[in-house]
Amino acid sequence: MSTIELSEAMRIRLSHQVMEEFASEHLYDHMADEAEHLNLHGMAKFLRAEAADEHVHARKLADYILSRGSPVRLPSMKGVPQQWESPEKMFMDLADNERHVTELYHGHMEAAMAEKDYATVAALQWFVTNQVAENQKAADILYHFAQIRQAPFMITAVDGYIGGMK
Ligand SMILES: [Fe+2]
Repeated sequence: MSTIELSEAMRIRLSHQVMEEFASEHLYDHMADEAEHLNLHGMAKFLRAEAADEHVHARKLADYILSRGSPVRLPSMKGVPQQWESPEKMFMDLADNERHVTELYHGHMEAAMAEKDYATVAALQWFVTNQVAENQKAADILYHFAQIRQAPFMITAVDGYIGGMK
């Protein structure tokens, strides 16, 4: 079946995803505050920019739902951790979150294909492709944290590296 309006199931799926994008914004903005508190200004800058990107993703998806003549109905927002054991642990959470979001998009894509909702398949393509870059960035950062496990004083160099990533 292919219709102009989103199916009810797809509207619920995509609305949930809008919440996930706002939750990612909230999470990364809070991580930026934590980095700032630790004087890791490069990481804070990177995380602030990531948070801003997540806001754009949320809007892009919400606008798509609206363009299909469907309302956006957000489920309540997920919470974020208050603090992290270490900056490395914080970025591990970022990598986990990006992996989680990637799996969600793959599920949405499968559902859109099963519904033969080709417009949604096309709209989701951008998000699926973007997740490849997000996961690659997270892996790059975790590689650099792994490199300095025996040399914690190198955190300042890693901070500079991450700050230069965006
Ligand atoms: Fe996103």
